[in-house]
Amino acid sequence: MVSNRVPVPKDGTSKAGGLTVALEGALKRSGGLWFGWSGETVENPSDQAKVVQAGKITFAVLDLSQKDYDEYYAGFANRALWPVCHYRLDLVQIERQELDGYFRVNRAFAASLAPLLRPDDVIWVHDYHFIPLAAELRRLGFKNRIGFFLHIPWPPSDVASALPAYQQLLQGFGAYDLIGFHTPQDAENFQRCLVRENIGSPTGTGEHQIDGHTVRIGAFPVGIDTEGFVRAAASAERNALVRRTKASLGDRDLIIGVDRLDYSKGLKQRIEAFSCFIRSNPDFRNRVTYIQITPKSRSDVPEYQRMQREIAEQAGWTNGSLGEVDWTPVRYVNGTVGHAALAGLYRMSRIGLVTPLRDGMNLVAKEFVAAQQPDDPGVLILSRFAGAAHELDGAILVNPYDTEACAASIARALRMPLEERRERWDSMMGRLRTNTVEAWCQRFLSGLSDLSNESLEPHES
Ligand code: F6P
Repeated sequence: MVSNRVPVPKDGTSKAGGLTVALEGALKRSGGLWFGWSGETVENPSDQAKVVQAGKITFAVLDLSQKDYDEYYAGFANRALWPVCHYRLDLVQIERQELDGYFRVNRAFAASLAPLLRPDDVIWVHDYHFIPLAAELRRLGFKNRIGFFLHIPWPPSDVASALPAYQQLLQGFGAYDLIGFHTPQDAENFQRCLVRENIGSPTGTGEHQIDGHTVRIGAFPVGIDTEGFVRAAASAERNALVRRTKASLGDRDLIIGVDRLDYSKGLKQRIEAFSCFIRSNPDFRNRVTYIQITPKSRSDVPEYQRMQREIAEQAGWTNGSLGEVDWTPVRYVNGTVGHAALAGLYRMSRIGLVTPLRDGMNLVAKEFVAAQQPDDPGVLILSRFAGAAHELDGAILVNPYDTEACAASIARALRMPLEERRERWDSMMGRLRTNTVEAWCQRFLSGLSDLSNESLEPHES
């Protein structure tokens, strides 16, 4: 497994977010090597990975120099790839030096991974930080099966082609045997990009020949550890933070949003929709509280610094204009909340507000559903632009740009009869119970193992 973030255990515990927790669960069972960035920047990074053994998992991580971090991570990955993949061409920053840094770090990571690989290893590369990694490994002579999974959206070709070195990046995908996306729409967008740039030729839906090599392309929507989350939510009533929060709300209903502080999450539009809801439904004044938990993220990227200020101002302004002496309508928190407490907060919420402007999947939507009480579940309000909208048919789907429609959906959710809430929740839970994170891993890895031998032929890069 290769990913930019690696949850190396520190002091006997591992601190990681949703996705890494899920992948960790999968690797814990099968055992294997997890390779990536240590999360540290140092003056003279070693090209040999630091290795930590934890149970069946061998963690191997590299530090980055400040220059590599600035160019590869804060630069090309998060100022070019991230905004383009989230359809935000207005935020794209193109710097040749950052592009070079991105390819340089990928080459260096491939070289450091090389001595750790065995001939029969199946290699699974995650996310946009490492698109060229397989091509670099092929250049070093590796013929192992290599799969790639993109955790963020892939846009249509008119948008994707705003990437610098667009052709080179697409060509690099040709070194993988299997490429996975969260939705059929992303997979289709991607294959159309290959076609429009004349890179190889399609040999069927989800199959593309590039340099005599078959690349499979498909949708593999990620799941969560559903039963684990159900258990965590059920036992979270005893959690101290959950109990204090409950007491602080009195008999007010709770609306919850949980997102990294990122412009793709639609926080500005969401707070606006909430305030529109209160203004147009005065009977709900002082009867509902919206908690938005938003850990700061990528704070050294200027677009993120700007939005930190803007969202904080907006939350303050909303409370100033709508609040009362005994009521703070929006509780805006820039910290992280532990897994167990979060499960409890979801469970006591009447509404989960998940309204990104664009999102690969959005696991908060799934965790919110899994955390609900079966006999009195809350309602999920979900952006039609989140990958999860393809699966969670029981959510109220909204266009996050349409403030008044989102406000009306909040009112509808708060007034929704129990029977309808149960029906919607049942249907979503059915899906979550089948498509768990374990099932997702198995589907992707068996897809990668089932490939015919032709895919093990050497690749031109
Ligand atoms: O889901 C996309 C993703 O980039 C993950 O790869 C990553 O773990 C998460 O968002 C958080 O981003 P970052 O690692 O930049 O803090």
